[in-house]
Amino acid sequence: MNVSIDGAPPQLDKLSPAAQALRQQLDGQVAEILARYPDGPRSGLLPLLHLVQSVDGYVTPAGVEYCAAALGIHKAQVAAVATFYTMYKRKPTGEYLVSVCTNTMCNVLGGQEVYDTLTELLGVGHDETTADGRITLEHAECLAACDYGPVMTVNYDFFDEVTPDGAVDVVNRLRGGERPQPSRGARLCSLKEMAVQLAGFADDRDGAVADLGAGAATLRGNRLAEQHGISVPGFDPNTPIPTGDGRNARPTAVPAANKPASDRKPAGDAPQPQDKLLSDAKGETRD
Ligand code: FES
Repeated sequence: MNVSIDGAPPQLDKLSPAAQALRQQLDGQVAEILARYPDGPRSGLLPLLHLVQSVDGYVTPAGVEYCAAALGIHKAQVAAVATFYTMYKRKPTGEYLVSVCTNTMCNVLGGQEVYDTLTELLGVGHDETTADGRITLEHAECLAACDYGPVMTVNYDFFDEVTPDGAVDVVNRLRGGERPQPSRGARLCSLKEMAVQLAGFADDRDGAVADLGAGAATLRGNRLAEQHGISVPGFDPNTPIPTGDGRNARPTAVPAANKPASDRKPAGDAPQPQDKLLSDAKGETRD
């Protein structure tokens, strides 16, 4: 991505033909995004980059030029952001981006075996795409689902507690034109379609978003806290959240399962079993 910070930012009325084509295709959605940031349109850069990525499957030089012109900033500033975040791709990417978490938690649970198996199956390594353009494989750092490790995502939808055989099955079905159902959330879509959602536009497929709550593994800590009467002292889950404009937003209703069991017994009042185990392990004595 060759960009220079010399000179003025590109002008919307002097775009290259490729950037002009993007402008014609995306101007309505870009206007919608920028309207969300009335005090600082450049804050719209992240969704704008997702939006231009939805056209070609990656952030092209024309996409950088168009984002810069739309925001009145230099192409180098846009490129600095686009090259920092791994979700912005800088070369053509497959219809399905398969990301396997190989970070600590997933790794000890078998994430590396999953990744190695897919590498062998697909004949591609990290950030490489199969010859048919269908699948890009990448190993990912923590995908924020450690409680379901090892995890794999396809276009950012989760396949939990995945095994090498399970991952092979998912990938083979993708290659065969199927779209297997992820463990949670919406049905799979293409990476370009997902980029539109990441730009902040709703998934308008009928019934696409599954209505699932948090899973048992995610709520495990909450359940243990309930069981042992641990809660944050004095915390009221219905406390209004100040919004900074003089109003108070009501927090989203907390499901019963997420509420602290009681404020009568704050954490630290009495040693919990794990507390004692730790003390014993360290050889500490307690009164
Ligand atoms: S370490 Fe894999 S999701 Fe966190």
